[in-house]
Amino acid sequence: MADSARRALTSPHRKCDRIVIGNWADGGLLPGERFDTVLLDYLIGAVDAFAPYFQEALLHQLAARTRGSFYVIGLEPYVPVVADEEVGAFVGDLGRLRDACQLLARDRPYREYPAQWVVAQLQQAGMTVTDTKYFRIRYRQQFLAGQLDICESRVGQFADPALAAALLEHIAQMRRRGEALIDQHDGLAYGRDYVIRAQPLNDML
Ligand SMILES: C[S@@+](CC[C@H](N)C(=O)[O-])C[C@H]1O[C@@H](n2cnc3c(N)ncnc32)[C@H](O)[C@@H]1O
Repeated sequence: MADSARRALTSPHRKCDRIVIGNWADGGLLPGERFDTVLLDYLIGAVDAFAPYFQEALLHQLAARTRGSFYVIGLEPYVPVVADEEVGAFVGDLGRLRDACQLLARDRPYREYPAQWVVAQLQQAGMTVTDTKYFRIRYRQQFLAGQLDICESRVGQFADPALAAALLEHIAQMRRRGEALIDQHDGLAYGRDYVIRAQPLNDML
């Protein structure tokens, strides 16, 4: 991730720019520093895989480091009941298949949090939430391939070869079905991303 971030930089580093690698749960990241702008880009949903049960503490810690604007970008969790609709049901099944493959490979899947939950945490942390915006998602071929590639790579780590063979067959079926749905519906229109903007309460007074 750090290497690809470095490659993505379009202009040269300024002296003050840093790419820092570390786990927020270890407590030693950027000690004592505060920031004008803090942006959590799909971070909260990923925390369960890197620092389980740390989502609340992370939001509170990072809110306390913010002097100006605090942004949280995330994916609204899919509705837990299988949607009574072909595309929604497929996208939900795809997510469940990815998580199941990760669990069976003894890995920890991501866990997404609703915007409402994030807003409540920020308010408890003494922030004022100034905006919440939702953006409808339309998944394309790259997403389908990426999710199923994760599944295949995890199946390679299964202890039970019969289970692995059955899952590989199911993944191949999901690939064919997903590609057909993308063609038929011009992508998979399902779910929403959100952006929340907040400020420390003191800044508003
Ligand atoms: C879904 S990725 C998003 C990355 C980037 N914003 C993007 O869209 O390409 C989530 C990132 O959160 C990071 N992450 C998750 N939990 C973390 C933690 N406890 N401390 C530091 N980074 C964490 C992961 O390393 C991963 O790079």
